[in-house]
Amino acid sequence: MPLTDAQTTVAVVGAGAMGSGIAQVAAAAGHEVHLVDAAEGAAARAREKLANTLTRLVEKGRLSAEESDGILRRIVIGPAADGDLRALPPVGLVIEAVVEELGVKHEIFGTLAAHQDESTVLATNTSSLDVGAIAADLRAPERVIGLHFFNPPPLMKLVEVVRTTQSAPAVLEDASELMRRWGKTPVTCTSTPGFIVNRVARPFYGEAQRMLEAGVADAATLDLALREHGGFRMGPFELTDLIGQDVNLAVGTSVWLQTDRDPRYEPVDVQRELVEAGRLGRKTGHGYFRYADSGQTVDVTPDAARARELVGGPIETDPVARTIAMLVNEGVDLVRRGEASAEDVDTAMTLGTNYPKGPHAWLAELGAATVVEQLRALDAAFPGGRYRVSPALEDRV
Ligand SMILES: NC(=O)c1ccc[n+]([C@@H]2O[C@H](COP(=O)([O-])OP(=O)(O)OC[C@H]3O[C@@H](n4cnc5c(N)ncnc54)[C@H](O)[C@@H]3O)[C@@H](O)[C@H]2O)c1
Repeated sequence: MPLTDAQTTVAVVGAGAMGSGIAQVAAAAGHEVHLVDAAEGAAARAREKLANTLTRLVEKGRLSAEESDGILRRIVIGPAADGDLRALPPVGLVIEAVVEELGVKHEIFGTLAAHQDESTVLATNTSSLDVGAIAADLRAPERVIGLHFFNPPPLMKLVEVVRTTQSAPAVLEDASELMRRWGKTPVTCTSTPGFIVNRVARPFYGEAQRMLEAGVADAATLDLALREHGGFRMGPFELTDLIGQDVNLAVGTSVWLQTDRDPRYEPVDVQRELVEAGRLGRKTGHGYFRYADSGQTVDVTPDAARARELVGGPIETDPVARTIAMLVNEGVDLVRRGEASAEDVDTAMTLGTNYPKGPHAWLAELGAATVVEQLRALDAAFPGGRYRVSPALEDRV
């Protein structure tokens, strides 16, 4: 049966934040979904939690009672629900969303590959592991891909469809088509560290953190500059407080280590120190900012005049131009290396991060000569390779 057929049965392994959301999306698209989690009773609890969420949506009139019933009916808590993958019936697609550990994922894929048909597509929702390493030594590795959803899966439109060197083109095409059927916008990329979004977004955090460390302005003022003058919905400090400083640092560190410690991705001390001090952001009530129980920030007074003064000034202290130049450099370099298309990079960055524009749209607006000049000035001010200009930009001037 074609993967895109609603009759195709799906299994979701891992019923945590991501797995339960992905199961909801698949069931809403008409698939029978077998939910599995190694923690006893976790899959059944995830289904109950979803039932409560759907009841609230029905009460608010955002979903019909029939739709809600259909979604719940299609989520199956079967013999495999508590983690015995050998008890899964034959399915057309498995999406794995368990803990971010290569050993655990590799073992799950080994069991699935041995017990499911060779045509069953095996997908991982990993954020930071190499999909090729998860697929290593498996029977029929051509049906292994990444399907990287964003949090929360029912609301976020973007899905990165990740290919390994062995993934079959037909599997990737079918998976992209399936994601469209699920109401998502798929983009495709290689299994490069961070894929598209978590790679290209690094300088959004890294440039502001470096300006904070250099004393250019405080966190609230840098956030304000990027919001008010850059068009970003949130500034990097409030956003990382929301994501969790530990989570954001782990992603950044993972990309840095997987790129042989490329200075473009080197984490900064200020964030390491926050994590060591347990200042993880909103979830601990204190990160860059302090939070009241209501979730509101306490005592945050950005300096609007300082933000205005910085924007349009020298590139070293202009939070907006410096960040955008680096986002452009990162985006064009990903395309130059053949990891994704320019169109997919821009789609991924606008849908996955809510940036006002994608790197190529900014490049078209600013012109390569301007961006190259800005990066060269940064490289002269801060030597060491972080600000090296991508050959893809050099070629355009
Ligand atoms: N949270 C996010 O924002 C986000 C976004 C995109 C991708 N991801 C990725 O999705 C995956 C899951 O993340 P999450 O935030 O949902 O984690 P989570 O901790 O909420 O859920 C993970 C679940 O996996 C279960 N589990 C652990 N080992 C298992 C095994 N061997 N078999 C079956 N179930 C097992 C756990 O009991 C838990 O319920 C990770 O790979 C993560 O990198 C997370």
